[in-house]
Amino acid sequence: MSILRKKDHYKIAWLPGDGVGVEVLEAAKIVFDKLNLNAEYIHADIGWEFWCKEGDAFPQRTIDILGNVDAAMFGAITSKPMKQAEEELVPELQGKNLIYRSPIVRMRQLFDLYNCLRPCKAYPGNPLNFKENIDIVVFRENTEDLYCGVEFNPVPDELIATLTKLSSPFSKFAELKGNEFAVSCKINTRFGSERIIREAFEFAKNNGRKKVTIVHKANVVRATDGLFLEISKEVAKDYPEIIYDEANIDAMTMWLIKNPFNYDVLVAPNLYGDVISDLTAQLVGGLGFACSANIGEKLGVFEPSHGSAPKYSGLYKVNPIATILAGKMMLDYLGEFEMAERLEKATAQVIADGKVRTYDMGGSSSTLDLAKAIAEKL
Ligand code: IPM
Ligand code: MG
Repeated sequence: MSILRKKDHYKIAWLPGDGVGVEVLEAAKIVFDKLNLNAEYIHADIGWEFWCKEGDAFPQRTIDILGNVDAAMFGAITSKPMKQAEEELVPELQGKNLIYRSPIVRMRQLFDLYNCLRPCKAYPGNPLNFKENIDIVVFRENTEDLYCGVEFNPVPDELIATLTKLSSPFSKFAELKGNEFAVSCKINTRFGSERIIREAFEFAKNNGRKKVTIVHKANVVRATDGLFLEISKEVAKDYPEIIYDEANIDAMTMWLIKNPFNYDVLVAPNLYGDVISDLTAQLVGGLGFACSANIGEKLGVFEPSHGSAPKYSGLYKVNPIATILAGKMMLDYLGEFEMAERLEKATAQVIADGKVRTYDMGGSSSTLDLAKAIAEKL
């Protein structure tokens, strides 16, 4: 993983986004200030408001800022179905066929943030732990697969013609019109697969981890997942000290619940990684604890895995720990290892003490009170 060399001063893009994204980033700021991180925080516009006003939830000025910072903290985004998105545009932008695309998915692709890293650790004393001592790290390929954005609805005639020629039970395509079906492509490259698999093995090697499990569905999705699996076996040869393991995505969801202690480092193509990382997050307390890093060669973007939770927006009720732990990952990425360790210890202490808890943990403390409790332990 590319880690920035420690600097005296950092530029950090600050992207609160929508709903509770604003509140959890406010909480993260409390701990960064207490840590005395020498950083300039550069606010950047992103989210639903900018879709409605400008027809773009991820404006070019924000892309420019991201091109010029060391790292970014990102809150959350509200997304709505296309029909509603169209209706909420300002009248002068309606009827122009603007397409809403998830800003975070665009950001991952635009900045080639190929490594999505999602650690799931059961902090002792967390009443929401499924079992104690779970410690799983998910590596999710973050730019390809079904997220590649190559989709057709309606399906153009040329593609129908190509599909019809394939000798498969689906020669019925010949009878379908373009608006009677849709196509989403799953594209996985050798390069894209190899670099994420290597990240997982390197992480395992450098962090005393014993086993890497490859998550796939190569028995059915033979071309793409077959390639992912084939590359995994090749890469694994370079790491004889790490146990190589593989599992189908469906079976994996059962086994992770049956015996989470069997798992250590997981690596998966994009969509399976998305699914499995919600499952592993739930094993250690749910989305309030699920932190996520999106890392490329030039930029790291750190976020909680949860969404903007419109129902809680403005109430300062949600758990900021996912965002604070994402902040810890950002400190690691910046090479600020000592600060990162202090922040994780303080967070673990507050969880174990159990005095300050948000509603999800059975308490009534606010988002900011929990952040302040963590800041006090720093
Ligand atoms: C995640 C989220 C995103 C994803 C959504 C918000 C587009 O579920 O980060 O896991 O699917 O990647
Ligand atoms: Mg997800």
